[in-house]
Amino acid sequence: MLETLLRAFWLTFPALTANSFAVLTGGGLPIDMGRTWKDGRRILGDGKTWRGLAGGIVLATLVGMVEQVLAMSYPADFNAAYAETYVAAFPIVLAMASAAMAGDALGSFIKRRMGKERGESVPLMDQLLFLLIVFLCLAVLFPEFFVEHYLYPEVLIGLPVITYLLHRGSNLAAYIIGVKSVPW
Ligand code: CTP
Ligand code: MG
Repeated sequence: MLETLLRAFWLTFPALTANSFAVLTGGGLPIDMGRTWKDGRRILGDGKTWRGLAGGIVLATLVGMVEQVLAMSYPADFNAAYAETYVAAFPIVLAMASAAMAGDALGSFIKRRMGKERGESVPLMDQLLFLLIVFLCLAVLFPEFFVEHYLYPEVLIGLPVITYLLHRGSNLAAYIIGVKSVPW
């Protein structure tokens, strides 16, 4: 049971790093190019930039590739899924990283529609919507992989709990070292 959760965490780890990389690489042109929605508010807001999107996807995918190299060098049960071939994991990791950033942007879209300003928090959605989108993306694009590694109660419940705690912790750390203006 713990093994299954540990494996899912290891497999999902690249997606969990995507937003932190976006914080580090973000800035410049907003994805919505400053445009507004029908309600007169920004589509996504200045907190979602092309640089952050690209940085998040590329660097998170790189994390997955590093994991893969580690998995091939130190094969263990829990990383067997990444130990297969370099090529096999790449599309999964890329999809996961992209889904994480898409989920993050979807969260901003919903927040703007709720009338929340950039950086305002919506508890649970801020930390977990992206993971839900990652799960959905894996289930649709890589159903066998999803069923084999994610379709367990301990994963579907445990991974969101771990993600929530890590998200809160890393944002607090980013706030303390000054790369984020609010601690959430
Ligand atoms: N960021 C970025 N591009 C992205 C995602 C994040 O540039 N696609 C950067 C922005 O500098 C953003 C920071 O990472 O301010 C923190 O990300 P997040 O908390 O997701 O954005 P918020 O600023 O809180 O904006 P929102 O209210 O839309 O979530
Ligand atoms: Mg935020």
